[in-house]
Amino acid sequence: MEQNRDQWGSRVGFVLAAIGSAVGLGNIWRFAYMAYENGGGAFLFPYIFALLTAGIPLLLLEMGFGFFTRTSAPSSFRKVGKKFEWVGWWSVLVAFTVTVYYIVIIAWSLLFVFESFSLGWTADPEGFFFGEFLGFSGSAFTLGGIQWKIFFALLAVWIINYVIIAGGVEKGIEKASKIFMPLLALMVLIIVLRGVTLPGAMEGVKAFVTPDFSKILDFNIWVGAYGQIFFTLSLGFGIMIAYSSYLPKKSDVIKNGVIAAFADAAFSIITGIGVFGVLGYMAAEQGVGIADVATSGIGLAFIAFPQAINLLPALSQVFGLLFFLSLTVAGLSSSVSLIESVVSSLIDNFSLSRKKAVTVVSIVGFLMGLPMVTQGGLAILDIFDHFVNIFGLLTVGFVEMLVLSYAFDLDKIKDNMNPTSDLQVGTTWKTMVKFVSPVLIGIGLIQNVISEFATVYGGYPLSEVITFGWLAVALVLLFAIYLGQRENTIV
Ligand code: ALA
Repeated sequence: MEQNRDQWGSRVGFVLAAIGSAVGLGNIWRFAYMAYENGGGAFLFPYIFALLTAGIPLLLLEMGFGFFTRTSAPSSFRKVGKKFEWVGWWSVLVAFTVTVYYIVIIAWSLLFVFESFSLGWTADPEGFFFGEFLGFSGSAFTLGGIQWKIFFALLAVWIINYVIIAGGVEKGIEKASKIFMPLLALMVLIIVLRGVTLPGAMEGVKAFVTPDFSKILDFNIWVGAYGQIFFTLSLGFGIMIAYSSYLPKKSDVIKNGVIAAFADAAFSIITGIGVFGVLGYMAAEQGVGIADVATSGIGLAFIAFPQAINLLPALSQVFGLLFFLSLTVAGLSSSVSLIESVVSSLIDNFSLSRKKAVTVVSIVGFLMGLPMVTQGGLAILDIFDHFVNIFGLLTVGFVEMLVLSYAFDLDKIKDNMNPTSDLQVGTTWKTMVKFVSPVLIGIGLIQNVISEFATVYGGYPLSEVITFGWLAVALVLLFAIYLGQRENTIV
């Protein structure tokens, strides 16, 4: 089997694919909004702290682990012990469930690319987004009808993903990353240059980078920073395990990982400057404070940005097109990796062909996304996103670190990647993975569970939060345990 396993064609291809996976919707709207909501520049400190104490150590752990086992997440954890296989399945199922809604957001972005031509979001982008576009019913239980435009966009995005992934690691994912990433960098550069040269932009940038130290002692800012780092570096999804399992034996895993992590962080910060430049301009135009124009995560991209685009002095359509195309491209290069985590696991554990595996995943994923293109879809998506982030990837990453530190031997991973790398990992890395990260994340998780019980998320009715939040994450975990326990035909 080993001989037939897909491989990356070049180092640069792997690095671009890893950056492609990392840079996604999370960087463009989620980071800017998180930073803003958590005290502007005050967020940057926890963010960088989380990057160094958990992000890079866990990224290198996942990459090193996949490089060592040379197989996808479930079979990797099976090599630690049969009783840990479920951890791998858990990460894969988390990737799958995130994919389901992630692709819905890419579908929105794609439709907004077309809306840009005519500034179709009208003079009232908020009314347009919730009204004509989503037909939002206000409740996760009131599905109403399907929004057909979003339905077809969803189908289109799944087909694009299908084609790329069915093409294989080198000829599909690597090739797509080599087109997507330079294109994305160019588009974002134009957006940022335009953004920061608008009148009033500096006020926005100032709001983004000025620390509000009164917030730094707030627990939520730290949990937010760790959650953001996991999401943005694609950790806890089994992605980096699968991606590194496709590396040729002599690869420099550590340096590649560090490059990907810093490229991702730089992308977030640079985009944040551009986004807040534009918001600063909008605030100045309307004579209001920045606080009044920056809204919730989803709103920032699909409401505040169209509002800002409407106000641009010239070439609004071009700017809109660039922004939503960036969002679409960044989303696609990440969704491909999320799906690949699942596909590689099916190939490695059920002996499916690549084509069959990606067909199954695409059909099931598309069907599961259908409730999210109904009129109740936004509420389902919002609740699900919140829960799967905390009780999905953050928890999976936490468990991964514990299992690999205490039931496996970190030295095996270290000694396998150090000899072929310019950079070396040692005691600091092991200390982070074994103690520092798990303790910090563990405390954050406990705090989070407490606050989750204290207030029902997002002001939704409890029954909706139980169904699409608690029950959904519980089912994911139970299914993972089930998959982990079944008899394997392949060892
Ligand atoms: N890492 C991807 C993102 O940030 C999932 O969107």
